[in-house]
Amino acid sequence: MYEEIFEKYTPEKENLIYILHEIQDAHPQHYISEEAVAKVAEYLRIGLSHIYGVLTFYTMFSTKPRGKNIIRLCESPPCFLKGSENILRQLRDLLQVKTGETTADGIFTLELCACLGVCGNAPVMMINEDVYGDLTEEKVENIINSYKGGEK
Ligand code: FES
Repeated sequence: MYEEIFEKYTPEKENLIYILHEIQDAHPQHYISEEAVAKVAEYLRIGLSHIYGVLTFYTMFSTKPRGKNIIRLCESPPCFLKGSENILRQLRDLLQVKTGETTADGIFTLELCACLGVCGNAPVMMINEDVYGDLTEEKVENIINSYKGGEK
């Protein structure tokens, strides 16, 4: 997998984020392993600490295995004012996880994120690449069930 990704990019430090994105997307558990970091460091000839610095700076990267579906609930002020905290409580209850954790069956990981750029539809969450707005408790339950049932 690494070779296929590296082939698309010249070994320059500027390509680090693109390469990390591709590696994370290609992994079935949506994360960047220690092995991946070592391979990237070797390819780009940069230090491991530089890569880990980037991985911890950007919240979209994970160094821990994650679930099949990544839920990212917006916690920025417009969503907060429209009740994102209640949605978070509901998601934690429904999935039986804390923020940042993955469900026991590996289907969901629950994360928080900053503004998704659709504040007019607050509160908002993303699941993988799909955005869901104007969330209500009923809507959230239906969305989660649609992923559980394998419709997605
Ligand atoms: S504040 Fe939540 S989408 Fe902008």
